[in-house]
Amino acid sequence: MSIYVNEELKEFHLQTKNSSYIIKILKNGEIGQLYYGKKIKHKQNFSNLLKIVPTPASVCEFEEDPIFSLENIKQDYPSYGKGDFRQPAYHIEQENGSRITEFSFHSFKIYSGKPKLLGLPATYVENEDEAKTLEIKLFDKLLNAELILYYSTFYDYDTITRSVKIINKGIENLYLDRFMSFSIDMFDSDYEMVQLSGTWARERHMYRTSFRPGIQSIESTRGASSHHQNPFLAICRKNTDEFNGEVYGFSLVYSGSFLAQIEVDHYKTSRIMMGINPFDFKWKLEKNKEFQSPEAVLVYSDSGFNKMSQIYHKFYRERLARGKYRDKIRPILINNWEATYFNFTEEKILDMAKEAKKLGIELFVLDDGWFGKRDNDRSSLGDWFEYEKKLPNGIKGLSEKIVELGLQFGLWFEPEMISRDSELFRKHPDWAIQVENRKLATGRNQFVLDMSRKEVRDYLYETISEILKNSKISYVKWDMNRNISNIGSYKLDKDRQQELLHRYILGVYELYDRLTTEFPDILFESCAGGGGRFDPGMLYYAPQGWISDDTDAIERLKIQYGTSIVYPLSSMGSHVSAVPNHQVRRVTSIETRTNVALFGTFGYELDITKMNEQEKDIIKKDIEFFKNYRELIFKGDFYRLLSPFESNETSWMVVSNDKKEAILGYYQVLFEPNPGFKKIRFCGLDENLEYEIYIRKNQELEKIGEYNGDELINFGLILEQDYIRVFLEEITENGDYNSKLFILKAK
Ligand code: DGJ
Repeated sequence: MSIYVNEELKEFHLQTKNSSYIIKILKNGEIGQLYYGKKIKHKQNFSNLLKIVPTPASVCEFEEDPIFSLENIKQDYPSYGKGDFRQPAYHIEQENGSRITEFSFHSFKIYSGKPKLLGLPATYVENEDEAKTLEIKLFDKLLNAELILYYSTFYDYDTITRSVKIINKGIENLYLDRFMSFSIDMFDSDYEMVQLSGTWARERHMYRTSFRPGIQSIESTRGASSHHQNPFLAICRKNTDEFNGEVYGFSLVYSGSFLAQIEVDHYKTSRIMMGINPFDFKWKLEKNKEFQSPEAVLVYSDSGFNKMSQIYHKFYRERLARGKYRDKIRPILINNWEATYFNFTEEKILDMAKEAKKLGIELFVLDDGWFGKRDNDRSSLGDWFEYEKKLPNGIKGLSEKIVELGLQFGLWFEPEMISRDSELFRKHPDWAIQVENRKLATGRNQFVLDMSRKEVRDYLYETISEILKNSKISYVKWDMNRNISNIGSYKLDKDRQQELLHRYILGVYELYDRLTTEFPDILFESCAGGGGRFDPGMLYYAPQGWISDDTDAIERLKIQYGTSIVYPLSSMGSHVSAVPNHQVRRVTSIETRTNVALFGTFGYELDITKMNEQEKDIIKKDIEFFKNYRELIFKGDFYRLLSPFESNETSWMVVSNDKKEAILGYYQVLFEPNPGFKKIRFCGLDENLEYEIYIRKNQELEKIGEYNGDELINFGLILEQDYIRVFLEEITENGDYNSKLFILKAK
């Protein structure tokens, strides 16, 4: 049983394997929040969890009741304007100018399974019994409108999903200017907030701050979830670390502008909400129309961040990602971007592909520059036909040659963009997002197509599918290299202009849906100037994403560590690139670059034709090695052991589901002189098994011992001291940016 109901008290107890979520209908018919946390036993009456007491100077909703003040009541989807002065979850303007609503309890339904969210990405069930859904319908008589709150519990996946829908059954238009996906009031505010923030080339770094009175929030106003803030936040107790303590994760399945907000009030309760960013948003809801919010995924862990992440990883890998590649090992790819940028010919690409094949690479990806007249980033976006000067045999000819070599072929697109210098812009200048008679701001010399327009999406669908149909393409990289400004659409009515950003992302989803449905055998990888739209919404259409344009191994430690807080390794595009690195000029060994990139969907992004035989031999062996362990990396349980945000060392490991095999990466950024002893404690192993441990050195596995699971967990493994090694063996290589890779096999 995962949802209990006490019909008389109108109390609902939602349970997952390890968490409980309890709500109750209040006297005013709205929803009270009683408890969210570690699973507790069910009982018939939980009213003791919600105390309503009179407080000085508060505003009460009912004249005859001096106690019932919404200001003092923990709620689950709070309304505006009746005495609760915190921010509401929704705000609806009516034709008469009023913003007051009175949605109150009408009915509820509980059923197995989970409904789809029309036009939006969302988690799903494969069998009805995987989830139970509670639908609570609230009704506003005056508006004749329904507000339906969806709560789905995935018992075994240990997650709760929430979303909201409004249906206008009245005769007047409603204007939604705030419509969050969920809101929850927590009893206290002794928490810290963890967010994943950054910018281009340093996405999803972890930041942790204590709650303070007032509003603290993260948001995107860019029309994409952004490099800058990820649509995720966690709240945790002060003592919480990777393995201990309480943490709650809130993740939004949405790729557009979002808001994630915490409000600590004067009684130290905390209100957490997430949804479409209300800034510059207003949705006109005509009669008989409905509006569906994106979905949020809530996870509770009583054992720190690792457990929370593992819950997200499994859930997102198995019940958010979809399609043929969801459960399939992904091909090892080579991408020509950092090897050639725009400067390539068919001959050059084929030379690279031939070498790639020899080394064991499985997929060749042709990046930007193959279409229109594109020799740099100033032209041709929108002209999705081959650039004959570079590709005399077209994509068809090239793809056939690459397939003949025994490789798969993949192609880059940036569907949502248009260059001023393009045939498309000359024909349809109004297809760019813009405001009439105003300047058009550029980003990377390009404009953004108005994806809210059907004719734009149809054009993209037709031109892109033409190429995909006629060539031998197994993979598509879908890029998006600038954020949206000058928000205006030639097509939308003036009272719908503030709908544009949400309509834009719905349009992107629609195009993704059409293309992935039409081409189920193609693996899609999402990208947005690196990790500018790496979010759960994208994961629904593209099971992997390019996490950052920064390919430096040391920078990647933080990016991959931060990304893994929510997202599974199977979704994280990670490549070995050339040195000096193109973003930071850092020189790291091929060993360290490989040891970092292995923990993701592995690939290369360098000119292998320029490598010497010794380097190629290393890559060949690395690929062989990865092939032996990729199943483990793809499906195993990921543990973060040492954080790059806290020290000079980073470590993480993956353990197979049966605990018989594991792989551990250890990275030291700066070399330390005379450091003393170091050891590393393993996680997730079986205490009762004995493991053989190997270290990977010079592309070979070298056995270093046999140890019991319990000693590896509780004591750990003493690490070889590089300082002594350098001293005794007269090693000349750079001591910084070192790494080690260990393999564990149960006996
Ligand atoms: C940004 C991407 O992140 C890169 O990998 C590359 O595809 C370029 N765009 C191409 O313009």
